[in-house]
Amino acid sequence: MSHSNQVELLGIRKKYGTSEVIRGVDLNVGRGEFVVFVGPSGCGKSTLLRMIAGLEEISDGDLRIEGRSVKNLPPAKRGISMVFQSYALYPHLSVEDNMGFGLKQAKTDKAVIKNKVAEAARMLQLEELLTRRPRQLSGGQRQRVAIGRAIVRDPTVFLFDEPLSNLDAALRVQMRLEIARLHKEMNATMIYVTHDQTEAMTLADRIVVLNQGRIEQVGTPLELYTAPLTKFVAGFIGSPRMNFLPALITRSDDATAIVELPNGTRLKAPRLSIPRDTEQRIILGVRPHEITLPDRSESIATDITLGGRIEVIENLGNSTLLHIRTGGDTLLTVERSGIALHRADEIINVGIDLAHCHCFDGNGKRLTLL
Ligand SMILES: Nc1ncnc2c1ncn2[C@@H]1O[C@H](COP(=O)(O)OP(=O)(O)OP(=O)(O)O)[C@@H](O)[C@H]1O
Ligand SMILES: [Mg+2]
Repeated sequence: MSHSNQVELLGIRKKYGTSEVIRGVDLNVGRGEFVVFVGPSGCGKSTLLRMIAGLEEISDGDLRIEGRSVKNLPPAKRGISMVFQSYALYPHLSVEDNMGFGLKQAKTDKAVIKNKVAEAARMLQLEELLTRRPRQLSGGQRQRVAIGRAIVRDPTVFLFDEPLSNLDAALRVQMRLEIARLHKEMNATMIYVTHDQTEAMTLADRIVVLNQGRIEQVGTPLELYTAPLTKFVAGFIGSPRMNFLPALITRSDDATAIVELPNGTRLKAPRLSIPRDTEQRIILGVRPHEITLPDRSESIATDITLGGRIEVIENLGNSTLLHIRTGGDTLLTVERSGIALHRADEIINVGIDLAHCHCFDGNGKRLTLL
């Protein structure tokens, strides 16, 4: 049966004893879609993935694949392949036999197994290592064998739990491209967990941000980056992290609302949606590359100018991060391209335009600012 939503999560919950770690997750994953789960450590990404795979029981809710409930089906009957955060390979089997193990169990023809394993090995650059045992491999090589083992089974849904976390930077980039290519070629549905911002932004059709067992926001990478619905998402998507400044908004009459910063700066915010006669604490969010460093000679006018002291400078080669302590206890990160000619302990002005700010209410919900 054909069904446009390949994987459907309906009110999924997971309890361990009395603690609920997945607290009602609803999500539809379309056929061929690449969905990435992100969220802080312990938010439930692996648990959710393992429930989809059938390795953890679902405490409440339903899971459908191709429109059919699979909640009570064993892992092998779900048409799913999973690559784990920790990849258990059979120590006594060679790389080749590890990769072909699932197919052999399914009584696949020997020649077919050999072909599929050879093709996966070529893709994953494991051809020279096919006769080795897992203990004779590096962590990254083992991780690639684990990916190979999933590929050869031709699943309709791939689940990846941080599959690239043990690879060096260069191999990680290369494998990221391989996975993107694999997804395109196989047109398989993929659900992928990562802590890596670049992987999430580049691989995902949609990113799911999880927070304490709940979905915080689902959207395309650019939706989450340009219009985060909560402060949590704003702080989570984007690297270096978005800066947050406390502020106060007031609206004493029908005229535009006023944003007031702790240093006394007062700004008009014409379209800020708050009722009249209110005063409320808000948070302004601004990304590190949107902050300017107006010096006296240039004196570019920005809506907000804050004085501060540079605490730490991080030279990354193609960019520089300046961590600047401003009034109150706010540490702002400013990103400049290239090498910045600043020194630690320097007193400096930072400039922020309201047009670059994201605005969140006291509960962390997005407000429309301009
Ligand atoms: N078997 C278990 N019994 C009790 N609690 C568990 C069990 N397995 C996981 N948990 C808890 O469930 C929560 C979610 O764990 P999970 O492994 O899904 O997190 P995660 O998002 O994958 O984190 P990480 O990014 O560190 O891998 C954690 O608080 C964890 O301590
Ligand atoms: Mg995990």
